[in-house]
Amino acid sequence: MLVSAKEMMTKALAGKYAVGQFNINNLEWTKAILLTAQELQSPVILGVSEGAGKYMTGFKTVAAMVKAMDEELGITVPVALHLDHGTYEGCYKCVKAGFSSIMFDGSHYPFEENLAKSTELVHVADQLGLSIECEVGSIGGEEDGVVGMGECADPDECKTIADLGVTMLAAGIGNIHGKYPANWPGLSFETLAAIKEKVGDMPLVLHGGTGIPDDMIKKAISLGVAKINVNTECQLSFQEATRKYIEEGKDLQGKGFDPRKLLNPGFEAIKAKVKEKMELFGSVGKA
Ligand code: 13P
Repeated sequence: MLVSAKEMMTKALAGKYAVGQFNINNLEWTKAILLTAQELQSPVILGVSEGAGKYMTGFKTVAAMVKAMDEELGITVPVALHLDHGTYEGCYKCVKAGFSSIMFDGSHYPFEENLAKSTELVHVADQLGLSIECEVGSIGGEEDGVVGMGECADPDECKTIADLGVTMLAAGIGNIHGKYPANWPGLSFETLAAIKEKVGDMPLVLHGGTGIPDDMIKKAISLGVAKINVNTECQLSFQEATRKYIEEGKDLQGKGFDPRKLLNPGFEAIKAKVKEKMELFGSVGKA
């Protein structure tokens, strides 16, 4: 069931759990995540970065694939198809392609420009009944060539953007995309608490979910995080399982070269990773 993320965010915030956003790259990724969500009766958000959208030949292809797969697999749990770190133009493309949710990442603009563009896009999303995520304070690390320094968001700026009526707000609290460096100081709960204090009942989004220790995830949820994004960890799980299959020479045995066999260990590894995260985030049985 393709839906906006509005209701799942409200329920997650009230129930003190978080809904996972898992980024998709292809058919196997999408199928693994949808099947796991259904098995665990968990709401789920499928994230699509602009780069992944381009890789899959465009947002229209992605939306058509997700809608058809959702129907043919008989998925009944709420699924949001969400643009991840969208540009202004990308948001319009996804709206047109039939996404149910968008993220506008204007965090690299001067604040006034971020505010102006976010205001316009919140209005567009509202009119179409879509959910919208906006960002204040860039997330560290690299994603699709965009490098953020991981600055902590300004709580007053968070309030200004939250007051526009965004569905959920991504605010930098020292989180980084990709693997965390050994000297990473951890999430800034002081910043998270200060933001929460200003924005009240606004679902907060924790990007860079890969590699954040479980206790920090739980504390972040207790402080108002209702959506957690995970991408790299699924990629690493897929890579590890695929490497093992080939290193064990299984692709050379019988029909082991068949792509359906070759990609299966990676597919199962994504399922296991998504299950582990849904259990940690507390979204199991919340569909
Ligand atoms: P990771 O790749 O670090 O899990 O981050 C994912 C993310 O935040 C997508 O927006």
